[in-house]
Amino acid sequence: MGKPRTMRASKDQNTQRILVLNAKGGCGKTTVATNLACQFANEGHDTALIDYDPQCSSTEWLEMRPSHLPAIHSISAHHNHRTTSVWHLRVPQGTTRIVVDTPARLADMSAVKLVREADTILIPVIASSIDIRAAIPFIEKLLKSPELRGSSKRIAVIGNRSRKNSKSYKSLVSFLQTHNIPFLTSLRATQNYVRAAEEGVGIQELALKSTQIDIEHWQSLARWIESGSAPASTPESASR
Ligand SMILES: Nc1ncnc2c1ncn2[C@@H]1O[C@H](COP(=O)(O)OP(=O)(O)O)[C@@H](O)[C@H]1O
Ligand SMILES: [Mg+2]
Repeated sequence: MGKPRTMRASKDQNTQRILVLNAKGGCGKTTVATNLACQFANEGHDTALIDYDPQCSSTEWLEMRPSHLPAIHSISAHHNHRTTSVWHLRVPQGTTRIVVDTPARLADMSAVKLVREADTILIPVIASSIDIRAAIPFIEKLLKSPELRGSSKRIAVIGNRSRKNSKSYKSLVSFLQTHNIPFLTSLRATQNYVRAAEEGVGIQELALKSTQIDIEHWQSLARWIESGSAPASTPESASR
């Protein structure tokens, strides 16, 4: 058998490159990356998940993935991040969705390299005052970077474990409104994310009645990424 055909991650015009980024640990980067990859794979996209984090959580999650579920191509990239841009890595020919999971405390230079060729940057933020205080300067810095200014890249925030009546949640909403950053959706705090993480599946694949609302969040997130023009949900409607 010949070698499988591959292409550069940055190459194909029809490929959507989604970078999941936030300097803070534990905010939900791996949760967003793995569940979004599942969403795409279940919608029939040829999907690759690039793990840039030395902790390898996404890679380990993929190793547990049951073989009867839609395949997600795994690329563990942390070992060459100093020498190679993640976008120079090779993915299977025909890959249409590439999701990149990143580590916490990513150095500014590495973040810039990653942002350069991403189409969409998703920033999960936990709506606690500590996390929001950390997220605001991070997002401000990102917005000022030449890679983002005036580019067609899209950046959006995903609230995680949000309680919409909390003071910190409201301050996150108002910060995002001031900067005209879409607040795409708010993920509920549910043990189903922990369970899915332990089983190598997405929350969509647990096939539980109780996850219907969560499934809708992932569907609307994928729609926003795909359409480019669909309006972002308001935080109020997203956090039902
Ligand atoms: N909405 C959520 N509800 C419940 N648990 C969550 C939720 N989001 C993340 N978690 C759990 O919190 C932990 C940290 O999330 P993770 O996605 O690994 O963060 P990061 O990759 O940013 O460090 C994991 O155990 C994950 O399963
Ligand atoms: Mg992680």
